[in-house]
Amino acid sequence: MRQKLVIGNWKMHGSLAANAALLDGIKAAPARARLAVCAPFPYLAQCQATLAGTAIGWGAQDVSTEVRGAFTGEVAAPMLAEFGCAYVLVGHSERRSYHGETDATVATKALRALESGLTPVVCVGETLAQREAGETEAVVGRQLAAVVEALSIDQLGKIVLAYEPVWAIGTGKTATSEQAQAVHAYLRGQLASGSAAASADVAARMPILYGGSVKPDNAAELFSMSDIDGGLIGGASLKAEDFLAIGNA
Ligand code: 13P
Repeated sequence: MRQKLVIGNWKMHGSLAANAALLDGIKAAPARARLAVCAPFPYLAQCQATLAGTAIGWGAQDVSTEVRGAFTGEVAAPMLAEFGCAYVLVGHSERRSYHGETDATVATKALRALESGLTPVVCVGETLAQREAGETEAVVGRQLAAVVEALSIDQLGKIVLAYEPVWAIGTGKTATSEQAQAVHAYLRGQLASGSAAASADVAARMPILYGGSVKPDNAAELFSMSDIDGGLIGGASLKAEDFLAIGNA
């Protein structure tokens, strides 16, 4: 049985004061799911100070493909580890589209995260045009394959996958639970079809989160689907009440 996991992606939101109120609110009540927040880099120390010793994890929204060196503006995985990060998002569609991250870049980032003991949350998802052209499985399959090829089966068993249809992010347009379940089942099937004997086991254990306009009023239905193991939450993760409601859905 896979435990439900609900991760908040704050994106480029927050301030010391707003985060303190949000984190205190999240800490104040128990949630049925495991919870984590992915904060902007400058606030990781605040997350560490506020959440250490609680059941709530924290992480970053991106990581460098490099470990150290002359890479101005980049943040390396060992640095994230020093701030107690358990997770790091890799390949979010906003990174892929605004920063030109390729499937290969995303796979390297996942590898760097794992090398520093972090859990990469690998994001995949199709655009509306790709969905309408019937390319959803081809797109997410290709995005997943790049990561599968870059990792050992042991490493693959340590990642979290997130399906985020680009057309559902921040639009208020959620995939129906059936649409999301179909893609999650496809992704799990792709993982199980690997040549190594361990593939089926890795596929069965892999947490696959859904992201894209998840709100308190649609989370329970999405999370009731057999291959949806929780959510990656944007807007609704910025309000403690909503985030906790999703964590209890
Ligand atoms: P919204 O929940 O705001 O649609 O964002 C989803 C997302 O991109 C999480 O990573």
